[in-house]
Amino acid sequence: MPNIVEVKNFGISFGDKEIIKDLSFTIKKGEIFGLLGSNGSGKTTTIRSLLGLYQPTKGELLVNNKRFEPGDKIRIGYLPEERGLYKKESVIDTMVYFGRLRDLKNPQAWSEKYLKRVGLQDHINTRIDKLSQGQQQKIQLGITIMNDPELLILDEPTKGFDPVNRRLLMEIIEERHQKGATIIMITHYMDEVERLCDRILLLKDGKSRAYGTVSEVRKKFQNKSLEQIFIDIYGEDSKKELENA
Ligand SMILES: Nc1ncnc2c1ncn2[C@@H]1O[C@H](COP(=O)(O)OP(=O)(O)OP(=O)(O)O)[C@@H](O)[C@H]1O
Ligand SMILES: [Mg+2]
Repeated sequence: MPNIVEVKNFGISFGDKEIIKDLSFTIKKGEIFGLLGSNGSGKTTTIRSLLGLYQPTKGELLVNNKRFEPGDKIRIGYLPEERGLYKKESVIDTMVYFGRLRDLKNPQAWSEKYLKRVGLQDHINTRIDKLSQGQQQKIQLGITIMNDPELLILDEPTKGFDPVNRRLLMEIIEERHQKGATIIMITHYMDEVERLCDRILLLKDGKSRAYGTVSEVRKKFQNKSLEQIFIDIYGEDSKKELENA
């Protein structure tokens, strides 16, 4: 499969703080790629740089062989880490509005079907800011996937969900994959990684610490569970942080 994303020797600093030092990886068309790492390791920064929201200090980040710019033909769906972007309007008005922006054939029908799927059929006319956090996140995810993105970038899509809803969201993500989408997923849940991801990258100290298929990475670490590998890689840091606290 061809690469849809290529990151070559990417580095970025904020002020004198070097967040990413030298990062290279590729994402193949049609795969689910897990971008992993401890809090503050630079996952969100990498995604934002890929989308052209931040200027890299060095190296390059390419989508379909070029630097991504708004207006590029590729359909990208981006669920940012910040949630609750839409507030004042009703659920259905908001979804239909975004559906129209994205030239959906029948945004009303699409939205109603999706709302039923995620158990919000009784909240069609509710104002978004009257919904719970998790319910609002479902709306945001719906808006992100409604135009069948070819590249779907999900920054912690299941953050804060109960186990039943987390499973539902994983099913929705899997469905997107089956429909041919390439998916970049940031998550702290290793069970999701084991279930969904074809390949993963673990970021540490601004560099790649492990990169490959889930089984390749596990093999490299004596076939330990991903959870244990994560703790082995990052645990030392949190011990140090505790000592310095
Ligand atoms: N706009 C910014 N200006 C300055 N520093 C920033 C900015 N955005 C991120 N940082 C810093 O860059 C580092 C990486 O942040 P980032 O949000 O990419 O981490 P992350 O891996 O997504 O973490 P988390 O798992 O907590 O979401 C952090 O130390 C953060 O303080
Ligand atoms: Mg983040």
